[in-house]
Amino acid sequence: MEPHDILRTLAEAQAFVCGRGGFRAPAVGVILGSGLGAWADSLTSALKLSYADIPNMPRSAVVGHAGNLVIGETPGGVTTACLQGRVHAYEGHDLASVVFGARLLARLGCKAVLITNAAGGVRRSFLPGDLMLITDHLNLMGRNPLAGPNVAELGPRFPDMIEAYSRAIRDLARAVARAANVDLAEGVYAAMLGPSYETPAEIEMARRLGADAVGMSTVPEVIALGHMGVPVGAVSCITNLAAGMTAQKLDHAEVEETARASRARFVGLLSGWVDRVGAAAPSLAP
Ligand code: HPA
Repeated sequence: MEPHDILRTLAEAQAFVCGRGGFRAPAVGVILGSGLGAWADSLTSALKLSYADIPNMPRSAVVGHAGNLVIGETPGGVTTACLQGRVHAYEGHDLASVVFGARLLARLGCKAVLITNAAGGVRRSFLPGDLMLITDHLNLMGRNPLAGPNVAELGPRFPDMIEAYSRAIRDLARAVARAANVDLAEGVYAAMLGPSYETPAEIEMARRLGADAVGMSTVPEVIALGHMGVPVGAVSCITNLAAGMTAQKLDHAEVEETARASRARFVGLLSGWVDRVGAAAPSLAP
């Protein structure tokens, strides 16, 4: 997509959402992954827009991914814009489409974005249901959402990625986890294109490269938000042990089921995190 197309399609979506009115400018954006979409239903005074109604918004065909933009208040009073479901590169979308929703959150005024996903555990000590704060990533997708002419209005040609996952936002996650008595591991997320799960050899490779978890999302959005100067935090729900670590076959239904079973802990963590990030938002700029 040409830069002016990216800007025009974003502006059309932004104008549509803002035209629906009735909400305060969101302070925090949230992107919800597989099996975790229900968190958006905890927002009050919510405006819920189907992706189908938002101009230019790509839609996911994956089971378990509702497609709604929900804008509302957390119980702690932080206005949040939430993507309930995302599109993935493996569906055949180009990465400009994959990051459209994340860029829209930034355009709606979100001062920080928190991302959740389901991931396979690569670290040997992980168990299904563990939560992992992402400290850094390996982009093994072979693609980058910023490839092509730079959209200078969004950010620089060569954005820095040293703190792709904001240190301040990570500190807040740790504090929330401690207060809520939730175990929160930390580690490196490796993004694969998918949609086939990895081979055991690919998981061994990822581990030797320094990965603790592996998945098929998040990294394009993190790069696009970093480009726009929006600080990001991300947490993975380890839904399964990665390929070759058990005798079991990998199965999307199991991934969703584990994410759902972890929901109570995940929701508690995310709610507290959004509230703290919302309170800190003015001082979070990278
Ligand atoms: N691999 C890739 N993506 C995933 C996995 C996995 O094992 N589990 C959940 N998403």
